[in-house]
Amino acid sequence: RTDPLVLGIETSCDETGIGIVRGTALLSNTIASSMDEHARYGGVVPEIAARAHLDELVPAIHAAVAEAGIRLQDLDAIAVTCGPGLSGALMVGVGAAKALAVALDKPIYAVNHLVGHVGADLLHSNTDTSNTDTKPLEYPTIALLVSGGHTSLLLVRDLVSDVELLGETIDDAAGEAFDKVARLLSLPYPGGPQIDRVAASGNPKAIRFPRGLSQPKDMAAHRYDFSFSGLKTSVARFVEQRQDSGEPVPISDVAASFREAVVDILLTKALAACADYNVPRLLLGGGVIANARLRQVATERTDAAGVVLRIPPLSLCTDNGAMIAALGAQLIMAGHEASTLEFGADSTLPV
Ligand code: KG4
Ligand code: ZN
Repeated sequence: RTDPLVLGIETSCDETGIGIVRGTALLSNTIASSMDEHARYGGVVPEIAARAHLDELVPAIHAAVAEAGIRLQDLDAIAVTCGPGLSGALMVGVGAAKALAVALDKPIYAVNHLVGHVGADLLHSNTDTSNTDTKPLEYPTIALLVSGGHTSLLLVRDLVSDVELLGETIDDAAGEAFDKVARLLSLPYPGGPQIDRVAASGNPKAIRFPRGLSQPKDMAAHRYDFSFSGLKTSVARFVEQRQDSGEPVPISDVAASFREAVVDILLTKALAACADYNVPRLLLGGGVIANARLRQVATERTDAAGVVLRIPPLSLCTDNGAMIAALGAQLIMAGHEASTLEFGADSTLPV
Protein backbone atom coordinates (compact mmCIF):
# COMPACT_ATOMS: atom_id res chain seq x y z
CA ARG A 1 0.00 0.00 0.00
CA THR A 2 1.43 3.40 -0.93
CA ASP A 3 1.26 6.49 1.27
CA PRO A 4 -1.07 5.27 4.03
CA LEU A 5 -2.77 7.83 6.24
CA VAL A 6 -1.55 7.14 9.77
CA LEU A 7 -2.17 8.75 13.15
CA GLY A 8 0.70 8.36 15.63
CA ILE A 9 0.44 8.55 19.41
CA GLU A 10 3.49 9.28 21.57
CA THR A 11 3.31 9.37 25.38
CA SER A 12 6.59 7.80 26.54
CA CYS A 13 7.70 10.76 28.65
CA ASP A 14 6.30 14.24 29.28
CA GLU A 15 5.15 15.11 25.76
CA THR A 16 1.68 14.15 24.57
CA GLY A 17 2.34 13.93 20.83
CA ILE A 18 -0.24 13.30 18.13
CA GLY A 19 0.95 13.31 14.54
CA ILE A 20 -0.72 12.54 11.26
CA VAL A 21 1.19 11.60 8.11
CA ARG A 22 0.39 10.40 4.63
CA GLY A 23 3.36 8.21 3.77
CA THR A 24 6.27 10.59 4.37
CA ALA A 25 4.17 13.77 4.10
CA LEU A 26 3.68 15.52 7.41
CA LEU A 27 0.06 16.64 7.84
CA SER A 28 0.05 17.58 11.52
CA ASN A 29 2.21 17.40 14.60
CA THR A 30 0.44 18.41 17.81
CA ILE A 31 2.44 18.45 21.02
CA ALA A 32 1.29 19.20 24.57
CA SER A 33 4.01 19.10 27.21
CA SER A 34 3.71 18.74 30.97
CA MET A 35 7.23 20.19 31.35
CA ASP A 36 5.99 23.14 33.45
CA GLU A 37 4.34 20.83 35.97
CA HIS A 38 7.64 18.99 36.52
CA ALA A 39 9.75 22.13 36.83
CA ARG A 40 9.44 22.50 40.59
CA TYR A 41 10.62 18.91 41.08
CA GLY A 42 13.68 19.42 38.86
CA GLY A 43 12.83 16.46 36.66
CA VAL A 44 9.98 14.48 35.14
CA VAL A 45 7.63 12.98 37.76
CA PRO A 46 6.14 9.80 36.22
CA GLU A 47 2.66 10.01 37.74
CA ILE A 48 2.27 13.68 36.84
CA ALA A 49 3.30 12.84 33.26
CA ALA A 50 0.74 10.00 33.06
CA ARG A 51 -2.09 12.17 34.42
CA ALA A 52 -1.22 14.97 32.02
CA HIS A 53 -1.41 12.54 29.08
CA LEU A 54 -4.89 11.57 30.21
CA ASP A 55 -5.93 15.24 30.21
CA GLU A 56 -4.24 16.14 26.94
CA LEU A 57 -4.76 13.16 24.66
CA VAL A 58 -8.30 13.72 23.42
CA PRO A 59 -7.85 17.48 22.83
CA ALA A 60 -4.54 16.75 21.04
CA ILE A 61 -6.22 14.16 18.78
CA HIS A 62 -8.96 16.65 17.88
CA ALA A 63 -6.41 19.37 17.20
CA ALA A 64 -4.25 17.11 15.02
CA VAL A 65 -7.24 15.88 13.00
CA ALA A 66 -8.43 19.45 12.44
CA GLU A 67 -4.96 20.64 11.44
CA ALA A 68 -4.54 17.76 8.99
CA GLY A 69 -7.99 18.38 7.52
CA ILE A 70 -8.96 14.71 7.66
CA ARG A 71 -11.65 12.64 9.35
CA LEU A 72 -10.72 9.86 11.78
CA GLN A 73 -12.65 7.40 9.58
CA ASP A 74 -10.25 8.15 6.71
CA LEU A 75 -7.24 6.79 8.62
CA ASP A 76 -5.56 3.63 7.34
CA ALA A 77 -3.97 2.82 10.69
CA ILE A 78 -3.02 3.91 14.19
CA ALA A 79 0.60 3.76 15.38
CA VAL A 80 1.58 4.05 19.02
CA THR A 81 4.77 4.07 21.09
CA CYS A 82 4.72 0.96 23.29
CA GLY A 83 8.22 1.51 24.78
CA PRO A 84 10.78 2.27 26.00
CA GLY A 85 9.71 5.01 28.40
CA LEU A 86 7.82 5.64 31.64
CA SER A 87 5.36 2.79 32.05
CA GLY A 88 2.38 4.73 33.38
CA ALA A 89 2.84 7.34 30.66
CA LEU A 90 3.11 4.67 27.95
CA MET A 91 0.00 2.90 29.23
CA VAL A 92 -2.15 5.98 28.70
CA GLY A 93 -1.10 6.23 25.05
CA VAL A 94 -1.39 2.49 24.42
CA GLY A 95 -4.88 2.41 25.96
CA ALA A 96 -6.03 5.36 23.88
CA ALA A 97 -4.57 3.86 20.68
CA LYS A 98 -6.30 0.53 21.25
CA ALA A 99 -9.61 2.22 21.96
CA LEU A 100 -9.31 4.27 18.78
CA ALA A 101 -8.33 1.24 16.70
CA VAL A 102 -11.24 -0.83 18.03
CA ALA A 103 -13.80 1.96 17.66
CA LEU A 104 -12.68 2.82 14.12
CA ASP A 105 -11.96 -0.80 13.18
CA LYS A 106 -8.47 0.11 11.96
CA PRO A 107 -5.19 -1.81 12.23
CA ILE A 108 -2.78 -0.78 14.98
CA TYR A 109 1.03 -0.77 14.92
CA ALA A 110 2.94 -0.83 18.21
CA VAL A 111 6.31 0.81 17.63
CA ASN A 112 9.60 1.46 19.39
CA HIS A 113 10.18 5.03 20.52
CA LEU A 114 13.90 5.07 19.63
CA VAL A 115 13.29 3.73 16.14
CA GLY A 116 10.59 6.41 15.86
CA HIS A 117 13.26 9.08 16.40
CA VAL A 118 15.09 7.72 13.36
CA GLY A 119 11.82 7.74 11.37
CA ALA A 120 11.50 11.48 12.04
CA ASP A 121 14.09 12.14 9.37
CA LEU A 122 11.76 10.83 6.66
CA LEU A 123 9.35 13.71 7.20
CA HIS A 124 10.06 17.04 5.59
CA SER A 125 7.84 20.05 5.82
CA ASN A 126 8.12 22.82 3.26
CA THR A 127 9.41 25.26 5.82
CA ASP A 128 12.32 23.04 6.84
CA THR A 129 15.59 24.91 6.51
CA SER A 130 17.71 23.01 9.01
CA ASN A 131 18.34 20.12 6.70
CA THR A 132 20.56 21.12 3.82
CA ASP A 133 20.33 17.63 2.40
CA THR A 134 16.66 17.00 1.61
CA LYS A 135 17.20 13.73 -0.22
CA PRO A 136 15.68 10.71 1.55
CA LEU A 137 17.71 9.22 4.36
CA GLU A 138 20.06 6.56 3.06
CA TYR A 139 21.01 3.40 4.90
CA PRO A 140 22.98 2.25 6.67
CA THR A 141 23.23 5.22 9.00
CA ILE A 142 24.48 5.79 12.52
CA ALA A 143 21.90 7.53 14.74
CA LEU A 144 22.75 9.41 17.92
CA LEU A 145 19.63 9.99 20.06
CA VAL A 146 20.04 12.30 23.03
CA SER A 147 17.26 13.55 25.28
CA GLY A 148 16.29 13.81 28.92
CA GLY A 149 15.37 10.12 28.92
CA HIS A 150 17.84 8.45 26.60
CA THR A 151 21.33 8.56 25.15
CA SER A 152 21.61 5.86 22.52
CA LEU A 153 23.78 5.07 19.54
CA LEU A 154 22.13 2.99 16.83
CA LEU A 155 23.29 1.34 13.64
CA VAL A 156 20.32 1.48 11.28
CA ARG A 157 20.69 -0.82 8.29
CA ASP A 158 16.96 -0.73 7.56
CA LEU A 159 14.39 1.30 9.49
CA VAL A 160 11.71 -1.39 9.68
CA SER A 161 13.78 -4.54 9.87
CA ASP A 162 17.35 -4.00 10.99
CA VAL A 163 18.16 -1.57 13.79
CA GLU A 164 20.98 -2.45 16.15
CA LEU A 165 21.66 -0.79 19.48
CA LEU A 166 25.42 -0.19 19.60
CA GLY A 167 25.50 1.51 22.98
CA GLU A 168 23.66 3.66 25.48
CA THR A 169 24.21 5.49 28.71
CA ILE A 170 25.15 3.37 31.69
CA ASP A 171 23.92 6.04 34.12
CA ASP A 172 22.35 9.45 33.37
CA ALA A 173 20.97 10.51 30.00
CA ALA A 174 22.75 13.50 28.46
CA GLY A 175 19.74 15.80 28.93
CA GLU A 176 19.45 14.65 32.53
CA ALA A 177 23.11 15.61 33.05
CA PHE A 178 22.36 19.09 31.66
CA ASP A 179 19.38 19.37 34.02
CA LYS A 180 21.39 18.24 37.07
CA VAL A 181 24.36 20.49 36.36
CA ALA A 182 22.02 23.44 35.79
CA ARG A 183 20.61 22.78 39.23
CA LEU A 184 24.13 22.82 40.74
CA LEU A 185 24.55 26.24 39.15
CA SER A 186 21.15 27.38 40.47
CA LEU A 187 19.73 27.63 36.96
CA PRO A 188 16.04 26.70 36.39
CA TYR A 189 14.63 23.50 34.85
CA PRO A 190 14.91 22.39 32.08
CA GLY A 191 18.63 22.99 32.37
CA GLY A 192 19.81 22.37 28.80
CA PRO A 193 18.68 25.68 27.29
CA GLN A 194 19.91 27.55 30.40
CA ILE A 195 23.39 26.01 30.23
CA ASP A 196 23.49 26.76 26.51
CA ARG A 197 22.63 30.41 27.17
CA VAL A 198 25.10 30.91 30.03
CA ALA A 199 27.87 28.97 28.25
CA ALA A 200 27.82 31.37 25.32
CA SER A 201 29.88 33.88 27.30
CA GLY A 202 32.15 31.30 28.97
CA ASN A 203 35.48 29.71 28.12
CA PRO A 204 35.06 26.03 27.18
CA LYS A 205 38.73 25.40 28.01
CA ALA A 206 38.61 27.02 31.46
CA ILE A 207 38.15 23.72 33.32
CA ARG A 208 39.06 20.30 32.01
CA PHE A 209 36.18 18.08 33.09
CA PRO A 210 36.46 14.29 32.60
CA ARG A 211 35.11 12.60 29.47
CA GLY A 212 33.38 9.48 30.85
CA LEU A 213 34.21 6.14 29.19
CA SER A 214 36.48 7.82 26.65
CA GLN A 215 39.89 6.69 27.95
CA PRO A 216 41.56 3.91 25.93
CA LYS A 217 40.92 1.32 28.69
CA ASP A 218 37.20 2.25 28.82
CA MET A 219 36.87 2.32 25.05
CA ALA A 220 37.82 -1.36 24.94
CA ALA A 221 34.83 -2.48 27.04
CA HIS A 222 32.45 0.43 26.45
CA ARG A 223 33.29 1.70 23.00
CA TYR A 224 29.78 2.98 22.27
CA ASP A 225 28.42 3.42 25.78
CA PHE A 226 28.07 6.75 27.54
CA SER A 227 28.52 7.84 31.15
CA PHE A 228 27.76 11.28 32.53
CA SER A 229 27.57 10.75 36.28
CA GLY A 230 31.35 11.14 36.82
CA LEU A 231 31.27 14.38 34.87
CA LYS A 232 28.35 15.64 36.95
CA THR A 233 30.16 14.72 40.19
CA SER A 234 33.27 16.49 38.96
CA VAL A 235 31.27 19.67 38.30
CA ALA A 236 29.66 19.36 41.76
CA ARG A 237 33.07 19.03 43.39
CA PHE A 238 34.41 22.05 41.53
CA VAL A 239 31.43 24.18 42.57
CA GLU A 240 31.67 23.04 46.21
CA GLN A 241 35.38 23.80 46.41
CA ARG A 242 34.79 27.32 45.17
CA GLN A 243 31.92 27.87 47.58
CA ASP A 244 33.89 26.45 50.55
CA SER A 245 36.83 28.73 49.86
CA GLY A 246 34.51 31.71 49.52
CA GLU A 247 35.46 32.31 45.91
CA PRO A 248 32.79 33.13 43.32
CA VAL A 249 31.72 30.25 41.05
CA PRO A 250 32.58 31.16 37.44
CA ILE A 251 29.19 30.03 36.17
CA SER A 252 29.74 30.77 32.47
CA ASP A 253 33.09 28.98 32.44
CA VAL A 254 31.68 25.97 34.29
CA ALA A 255 28.70 25.80 31.91
CA ALA A 256 30.90 26.18 28.81
CA SER A 257 33.44 23.60 30.02
CA PHE A 258 30.72 21.13 31.02
CA ARG A 259 28.90 21.57 27.71
CA GLU A 260 32.19 21.06 25.85
CA ALA A 261 32.77 17.77 27.69
CA VAL A 262 29.28 16.44 26.87
CA VAL A 263 29.56 17.44 23.23
CA ASP A 264 33.01 15.86 23.00
CA ILE A 265 31.83 12.57 24.54
CA LEU A 266 28.75 12.35 22.30
CA LEU A 267 30.52 13.09 19.04
CA THR A 268 33.66 11.07 19.76
CA LYS A 269 31.51 7.98 20.24
CA ALA A 270 29.22 8.68 17.29
CA LEU A 271 32.10 9.28 14.90
CA ALA A 272 33.93 6.20 16.18
CA ALA A 273 30.84 4.20 15.20
CA CYS A 274 30.77 5.83 11.74
CA ALA A 275 34.43 4.92 11.24
CA ASP A 276 34.22 1.39 12.68
CA TYR A 277 31.22 0.42 10.55
CA ASN A 278 32.38 2.45 7.56
CA VAL A 279 29.07 4.32 7.55
CA PRO A 280 29.50 7.91 6.29
CA ARG A 281 26.13 9.12 7.62
CA LEU A 282 25.16 10.43 11.05
CA LEU A 283 21.61 11.27 12.08
CA LEU A 284 20.94 13.25 15.25
CA GLY A 285 17.70 13.15 17.27
CA GLY A 286 16.27 14.02 20.70
CA GLY A 287 15.76 17.27 22.60
CA VAL A 288 19.46 17.82 23.38
CA ILE A 289 20.03 18.36 19.65
CA ALA A 290 18.80 21.91 20.32
CA ASN A 291 22.22 22.51 21.88
CA ALA A 292 24.05 25.18 19.90
CA ARG A 293 27.54 23.86 20.57
CA LEU A 294 26.54 20.28 19.77
CA ARG A 295 25.25 21.37 16.38
CA GLN A 296 28.35 23.42 15.68
CA VAL A 297 30.89 20.74 16.63
CA ALA A 298 28.83 18.04 14.90
CA THR A 299 29.02 20.06 11.69
CA GLU A 300 32.78 20.60 12.04
CA ARG A 301 33.66 17.03 12.92
CA THR A 302 31.42 15.35 10.34
CA ASP A 303 32.79 17.70 7.65
CA ALA A 304 36.33 16.77 8.63
CA ALA A 305 35.49 13.06 8.61
CA GLY A 306 33.58 13.14 5.31
CA VAL A 307 30.37 12.09 7.08
CA VAL A 308 26.97 13.41 5.94
CA LEU A 309 25.16 14.99 8.90
CA ARG A 310 21.36 14.86 9.15
CA ILE A 311 19.44 16.92 11.68
CA PRO A 312 15.64 16.93 11.39
CA PRO A 313 13.85 20.15 12.36
CA LEU A 314 13.72 20.55 16.13
CA SER A 315 9.94 19.98 16.29
CA LEU A 316 10.63 16.48 14.96
CA CYS A 317 13.75 15.91 17.14
CA THR A 318 11.95 16.32 20.44
CA ASP A 319 9.38 13.66 21.31
CA ASN A 320 6.42 13.85 18.93
CA GLY A 321 3.64 11.76 17.41
CA ALA A 322 4.55 12.48 13.78
CA MET A 323 7.70 10.36 13.97
CA ILE A 324 5.64 7.49 15.38
CA ALA A 325 3.10 7.86 12.57
CA ALA A 326 5.96 7.99 10.04
CA LEU A 327 7.38 4.72 11.35
CA GLY A 328 3.90 3.14 11.26
CA ALA A 329 3.53 4.22 7.62
CA GLN A 330 6.91 2.67 6.78
CA LEU A 331 5.87 -0.61 8.39
CA ILE A 332 2.68 -0.67 6.33
CA MET A 333 4.50 0.17 3.11
CA ALA A 334 7.04 -2.58 3.82
CA GLY A 335 4.15 -5.06 4.15
CA HIS A 336 4.45 -5.69 7.89
CA GLU A 337 1.54 -7.25 9.73
CA ALA A 338 -0.39 -5.07 12.15
CA SER A 339 0.05 -5.75 15.89
CA THR A 340 -2.55 -7.87 17.64
CA LEU A 341 -4.34 -6.11 20.49
CA GLU A 342 -2.52 -8.12 23.16
CA PHE A 343 0.54 -5.84 23.30
CA GLY A 344 1.13 -3.73 26.38
CA ALA A 345 3.50 -1.00 27.47
CA ASP A 346 7.11 -2.12 27.86
CA SER A 347 9.24 0.43 29.69
CA THR A 348 12.48 -1.35 28.70
CA LEU A 349 11.52 -2.42 25.18
CA PRO A 350 14.70 -3.25 23.21
CA VAL A 351 15.15 -1.87 19.67
O1 KG4 B 1 13.47 15.15 23.79
P1 KG4 B 1 13.09 16.03 24.94
O2 KG4 B 1 12.31 17.27 24.63
O3 KG4 B 1 12.22 15.19 25.92
C1 KG4 B 1 12.51 14.43 27.00
O4 KG4 B 1 13.55 13.76 27.07
O5 KG4 B 1 11.63 14.48 27.88
O6 KG4 B 1 14.43 16.43 25.71
C2 KG4 B 1 14.43 17.27 26.82
C3 KG4 B 1 15.85 17.34 27.32
C4 KG4 B 1 15.96 18.04 28.67
O7 KG4 B 1 16.82 17.28 29.51
C5 KG4 B 1 16.59 19.38 28.30
O8 KG4 B 1 17.39 19.94 29.32
C6 KG4 B 1 17.42 19.01 27.11
O9 KG4 B 1 16.66 18.07 26.40
N1 KG4 B 1 17.70 20.18 26.26
C7 KG4 B 1 18.94 20.64 26.02
C8 KG4 B 1 18.78 21.82 25.26
N2 KG4 B 1 17.44 22.02 25.05
C9 KG4 B 1 16.80 20.99 25.67
N3 KG4 B 1 20.13 20.17 26.38
C10 KG4 B 1 21.20 20.87 26.01
N4 KG4 B 1 21.15 22.02 25.30
C11 KG4 B 1 19.96 22.52 24.89
N5 KG4 B 1 19.92 23.66 24.19
ZN1 ZN C 1 12.66 10.50 22.80
